[in-house]
Amino acid sequence: MLSLLVVVACCLAAYTSPVSQRDWDVTVKHSWVTIPNGWIDVGAPPADHIINLKIGLKQHGFEDLLAMLHEISDPFHPKYGQHLSKREVDDLVAPHESTHATVREWLYGHGIDLASIHYSPAKDWLSLDVPLSTAESLLSASYRSYQHSSTGEQVVRTLSYSLPRDLHAHIDLVHPTTMFDRMKAMRATYMLDATLSPVGEANGATVKGPAGQDIPLSCNTTVTPACLQVLYSTEGYVPQAAEKGNKIGVAGYLEQYVSFADLQTFFTQFRPDAMGTNVTVVSVDGGLNDQSLPGIEADLNVQYTEGLTYPTPNYYYSTPGTAPTINDSVTPPQRDEPYLDWLTYMLGLPDGEVPQAFTTSYGGDEQTFPYEWAVRVCGMFAQLSARGSSVMFSSGDGGVGAGTCQTNDGTNRTLFQPVFPATCPYITGVGATYQIAPEKGVYFSQGGFSRYFKRPLWQAAAVPPFLEKLGSTYAGLYNPAGRAVPDVSAQGYGFQVVVEGKVESVGGTSASSPTFASIVSLLNDYRLANGRPSLGWLNPLLYTTGLSGFTDILLGNNPGCGTLGFNATEGWDAITGLGTPDFVKLKELLGFI
Ligand SMILES: *[C@@H]1O[C@H](CO)[C@@H](O)[C@H](O)[C@H]1NC(C)=O
Ligand SMILES: *[C@@H]1O[C@H](CO)[C@@H](O)[C@H](O)[C@H]1NC(C)=O
Ligand SMILES: *[C@@H]1O[C@H](CO)[C@@H](O)[C@H](O)[C@H]1NC(C)=O
Ligand SMILES: *[C@@H]1O[C@H](CO)[C@@H](O)[C@H](O)[C@H]1NC(C)=O
Ligand SMILES: *[C@@H]1O[C@H](CO)[C@@H](O)[C@H](O)[C@H]1NC(C)=O
Repeated sequence: MLSLLVVVACCLAAYTSPVSQRDWDVTVKHSWVTIPNGWIDVGAPPADHIINLKIGLKQHGFEDLLAMLHEISDPFHPKYGQHLSKREVDDLVAPHESTHATVREWLYGHGIDLASIHYSPAKDWLSLDVPLSTAESLLSASYRSYQHSSTGEQVVRTLSYSLPRDLHAHIDLVHPTTMFDRMKAMRATYMLDATLSPVGEANGATVKGPAGQDIPLSCNTTVTPACLQVLYSTEGYVPQAAEKGNKIGVAGYLEQYVSFADLQTFFTQFRPDAMGTNVTVVSVDGGLNDQSLPGIEADLNVQYTEGLTYPTPNYYYSTPGTAPTINDSVTPPQRDEPYLDWLTYMLGLPDGEVPQAFTTSYGGDEQTFPYEWAVRVCGMFAQLSARGSSVMFSSGDGGVGAGTCQTNDGTNRTLFQPVFPATCPYITGVGATYQIAPEKGVYFSQGGFSRYFKRPLWQAAAVPPFLEKLGSTYAGLYNPAGRAVPDVSAQGYGFQVVVEGKVESVGGTSASSPTFASIVSLLNDYRLANGRPSLGWLNPLLYTTGLSGFTDILLGNNPGCGTLGFNATEGWDAITGLGTPDFVKLKELLGFI
């Protein structure tokens, strides 16, 4: 259960208007033509299966919230940095009373006990446990059990759901219904090759970096916090705003647990001055942190945020909810879609408790998320940004598209496949580089163009030159009018991570996102220490005032979908974004605005 939800038992008198006055004709809300790729129908779920339905109500003032978010994130606007409070955000996203009344009337008409409904803090999400048969009659749906052909995961979903005509204007979406995505940890793991690492350490050889700094040659193949500090010029910067409340948050899913012992071993080897400091693990909805099952993703994320931001307080949010197996899902009731749960938790925190920088190394092909779901969740990231947080996500590890790149709309066309949530405009998508002097885009760094979100204004100058250079190459394989990813990049190959006591070499945009988020956290530290507010939503800033704080990456391409992918080029490109950060320059550019 969501611990933060408030039970609202309301007055029945308010919605006893005769049902016949409404048009309860149902029309389809969302449907798939065929079963999404990779899933197999394995039969009817148990009749007594309980389903936890979440109903996303239309948010009354969401357009106003977006307008304010644009003002407070625009460095040229007088309101820059004037982040919204929890109360302001909640008031803006609260549904209209007529929405509540209509939806209650509909639920009541289906025999739902209105006192059993739970509401999110802004009352824009309803949550209710119902038997499958009730869900099917509410939604004119036909739930089946589906199994993923490669992982064996099972989910209970429907290929289609419908709502009464009158409710389409009041309900954005109902979940779980047609969403088949698996949460995929973006991790590419490489075992340490002992013959590779000691080069620079042994002979002390260095090469000159983009800012004229001396970078150990070992950083060309094995990356440590010390490498990143030199490469991105954070070396020597001492964070000072912990007592002013600066924090960094790492979102963890998929039973990825942080090992406290591995963290200390990592400090001993790679950040000795941080020995004895800890990460605070926060359980969201009962998420665990089992010390006997350390996760590579979790260890990588936390070791690098701590390794780069020490002594800034680090928080790890353990959120449960992989798509559950059927035999687990009868009791306790089915729980899934962790982004939604995580966001509900985070948006419920009081002012001052929300970290100012977040990193998340998970995502899935955008097309596997129903459009309405992606838009609504993206809107929740906008709410988090409006509270003054910068939200980083890995851009994906599949080049221009992992797997077959076939569409799941029944037509089986081959198209490049960008990854959500990185395609959400209110998130900063982080791609990966490797090697030094020069850094190059690494082959797996995922990038491309959203088919759900159109190109935002802040990409209007940076992206068209890239498209012009591309010309007609790949025409039809991508959406040239879409929001382009990644926004930025950072090293993502050969990271030295301690897992179960041993050093392993780990790569992926999973490594890049914590690295970039740590630099953002240090920028926030500098601003807070100087009496400025946190940076909040970064994108409008990075593409304008922050532009010259990046090292442009000019080499590398990201193959996929049977092509060689995009090339890193001068200016923004769809493999390394604007480039990799230079902390000293960014501090000068962004420190006092
Ligand atoms: C980094 O490693 C690559 C691959 O081994 C090599 O081609 C390149 O020259 C190295 N870079 C430097 C600066 O030594
Ligand atoms: C870190 O916190 C965990 C959980 O509270 C605790 O078990 C562990 O001993 C702590 N480690 C250190 C070095 O303080
Ligand atoms: C749950 O399902 C899995 C996979 O079908 C099976 O291996 C396992 O034994 C089942 N567990 C229970 C408690 O029924
Ligand atoms: C599309 O691909 C799926 C999975 O490979 C297959 O089952 C289906 O028949 C294909 N549809 C068309 C129209 O080719
Ligand atoms: C990438 O660069 C190579 C080498 O210059 C060139 O042959 C290729 O056409 C470029 N590809 C794209 C998509 O721009």
